[in-house]
Amino acid sequence: MVIKHILILIFLVLQLSSAKVTYNVTSFGAKPDGRSDSKNAFMKAWNLSCNSTSPAVIYVPAGRYLIASALTFSGQACKSRAITFNIYGTLVAPSSYNAIGDAQVWIKFYIVKNVTINGGTLDAQGSSLWACKLAGKACPQGSTTLGIYHSQNVVISKLRSLNSQMFHILLYGCKNAKIQGVSILAPGLSPNTDGIHLALSTGITILSSKISTGDDCVSMGPGNSNIWIEKVVCGPGHGISIGSLGWELNEPGVQNVTVKTTTFVGTTNGLRIKAWARNSNGFVNGVYFKGATMMNVQFPIIIDGNYCPNNNNCPNEASGVKISNVVYENVHGTSATRVAVKFDCSKGNPCRGIVLKDVDLKFGGQPANSSCSYAAGTASGLLQPTSCL
Ligand SMILES: *[C@@H]1O[C@H](CO)[C@@H](O)[C@H](O)[C@H]1NC(C)=O
Ligand SMILES: *[C@@H]1O[C@H](CO)[C@@H](O)[C@H](O)[C@H]1NC(C)=O
Ligand SMILES: *[C@@H]1O[C@H](CO)[C@@H](O)[C@H](O)[C@H]1NC(C)=O
Ligand SMILES: *[C@@H]1O[C@H](CO)[C@@H](O)[C@H](O)[C@H]1NC(C)=O
Ligand SMILES: *[C@@H]1O[C@H](CO)[C@@H](O)[C@H](O)[C@H]1NC(C)=O
Ligand SMILES: *[C@@H]1O[C@H](CO)[C@@H](O)[C@H](O)[C@H]1NC(C)=O
Repeated sequence: MVIKHILILIFLVLQLSSAKVTYNVTSFGAKPDGRSDSKNAFMKAWNLSCNSTSPAVIYVPAGRYLIASALTFSGQACKSRAITFNIYGTLVAPSSYNAIGDAQVWIKFYIVKNVTINGGTLDAQGSSLWACKLAGKACPQGSTTLGIYHSQNVVISKLRSLNSQMFHILLYGCKNAKIQGVSILAPGLSPNTDGIHLALSTGITILSSKISTGDDCVSMGPGNSNIWIEKVVCGPGHGISIGSLGWELNEPGVQNVTVKTTTFVGTTNGLRIKAWARNSNGFVNGVYFKGATMMNVQFPIIIDGNYCPNNNNCPNEASGVKISNVVYENVHGTSATRVAVKFDCSKGNPCRGIVLKDVDLKFGGQPANSSCSYAAGTASGLLQPTSCL
């Protein structure tokens, strides 16, 4: 009998500790009309969730919610062990770019743990800012749509991001995050609209996502490690990039990156590593590009050790970034340029341990060409173009 009561007690305690509280943003004044600023209602729901001792759900019903200025969800001093957003609606930024143009981030999570974002659309309405930038006027830099800073155990699932002013999603200084089933959309000519940018982060997984944008599909800056990217479709855009690296003299390296089963459609690059031609102690070690389909991609495989977009004020030194142990396996499809495999490495720090295995890339129905400078490694299997390593 005593044991039975103890078991019931344990059961009740477990029930209580796993009981969820739900905060519906409309209960705090959020209006799904696309016109009334709902920022405060989201803040109230977050504050209550943050202070809740049981796991909290922030519920966002269908409709358009204007978030008229930059919004920060801070996890500092939160009691909650887990906060989940279930979003059925769209968060929309003002169409005039000044509202968030200088804010750096429109929707920011800062030092949060165990936050999950399920569903929803973020529409930053970036087109007025791109028009300003493309006209060469003086315009604000623009905001990242969703920025997650110094956070752990974050999951972003089935989110849509439309027309960001700058990066769509940024993970900065994060540990253990998973991004899956997201769809990212901006025109091919929207400047600086990287899909997902990773900085100083470790243990990040990006799965089953579709990214069409005006800059890199996924980009990984200095200080990232243990990154896994799988089943991502890119295009239009600038491809999946490690870099740009080596701008700073003192820079943490990039290590252990796997990019598996990717598709590139009409992108300007496929699998790219880019480093500035400047002195730096940065490095890249251990990259596994496995399984990629290229459809009309300008540079399907490229290491650019003289990265300098627009050829403006190029540093013209030998890049200090040391690139080693980069594997390209089972990469096939079509190139939009003759040189489909290009290793333009640094004279001062030649690339080492480049591995090509089963690479089949055609240009205009012919085997494409490859070009190597200061690159060493091994090649095996079916190789078109023939290896220049
Ligand atoms: C949230 O609030 C809206 C508006 O009051 C209501 O229609 C909806 O049923 C609520 N949903 C939940 C899950 O509480
Ligand atoms: C949320 O909490 C923060 C920190 O306590 C406070 O500064 C802010 O005013 C609160 N906002 C709302 C809308 O409750
Ligand atoms: C949590 O509750 C405490 C005590 O009521 C309050 O001081 C604090 O501002 C709340 N935090 C947030 C984020 O609302
Ligand atoms: C996050 O979730 C894990 C697993 O459920 C839990 O062990 C941990 O305590 C949570 N972290 C915080 C800060 O509550
Ligand atoms: C490399 O990263 C993967 C996750 O992407 C991880 O499972 C693996 O343990 C890491 N390897 C090393 C040697 O750290
Ligand atoms: C590749 O280079 C060779 C030799 O320079 C040239 O004959 C061939 O036409 C080139 N192939 C393509 C597809 O440009």
